[in-house]
Amino acid sequence: MRKQIAAANWKMNLTFKEGENLLNEILSANVALAPHQQAIFAVPFPYLTMSKSLTDEEKNYFVAAQNCYNKASGAYTGEVSAAMLQSLNIRYCVIGHSERREYFNETNAVLAEKVNICLANNIIPIFCCGEPLSVREEGKQNDFVAVQLKESLYHLPAEDIKKIIIAYEPIWAIGTGKTASTEQAQEIHAYLRSNIEAQYDSEVANTIPILYGGSVKASNAAEIFASPDVDGGLVGGASLKADEFLAIIKALQ
Ligand code: PGA
Repeated sequence: MRKQIAAANWKMNLTFKEGENLLNEILSANVALAPHQQAIFAVPFPYLTMSKSLTDEEKNYFVAAQNCYNKASGAYTGEVSAAMLQSLNIRYCVIGHSERREYFNETNAVLAEKVNICLANNIIPIFCCGEPLSVREEGKQNDFVAVQLKESLYHLPAEDIKKIIIAYEPIWAIGTGKTASTEQAQEIHAYLRSNIEAQYDSEVANTIPILYGGSVKASNAAEIFASPDVDGGLVGGASLKADEFLAIIKALQ
């Protein structure tokens, strides 16, 4: 059975105390997760240790970083390496969020290096892909995401790509309140899976969880997650409110 995942992306929000309170509120609800279900909190770097100490991996609650650098170590002032994350026992890292691609010029080639360095440090990349509005309006979204996968993931051998989580996030739906319709989400998730199958095989394609991101909230999560190729969500705004994110966790299938 494929994993079903509710991943919170706090982005650059919340003070330390606010983050700690939010996590405590969510975790104290003690929502039981089935063995194939996971909740993952992608928190800012300074909150990783605190978040790690509050979450119980045995109950399928995990912590993720939101980014890491594409080099192993050295004179890169201000950057954080995958090895540093590994030394904190962080198991997941968001890679290639559209905000990183847009504001920090992260290219598919750089993201391929980040994917490699995460895997080399036993960190599972939550690899983001997704098209801007102009591409969607031209109906070219499938080709656009196919190139993102090809250039950042398809160098991996089957046993490595099987470890990855993909998040499809149409840029026009992020933080806009606009959500892809369930049909649009299912259609492109099925396309992504068929593209992976064509490159690898059906076993690989059916192993990789593909999350939907873009204005997921308590009121639409269950409907979005019910689609056969949608395996949960990567959630920004609604992950900053305990009751919203708890409802999203409960909407996992
Ligand atoms: P949003 O963000 O839920 O606020 O649209 C999603 C994301 O960027 O991961």
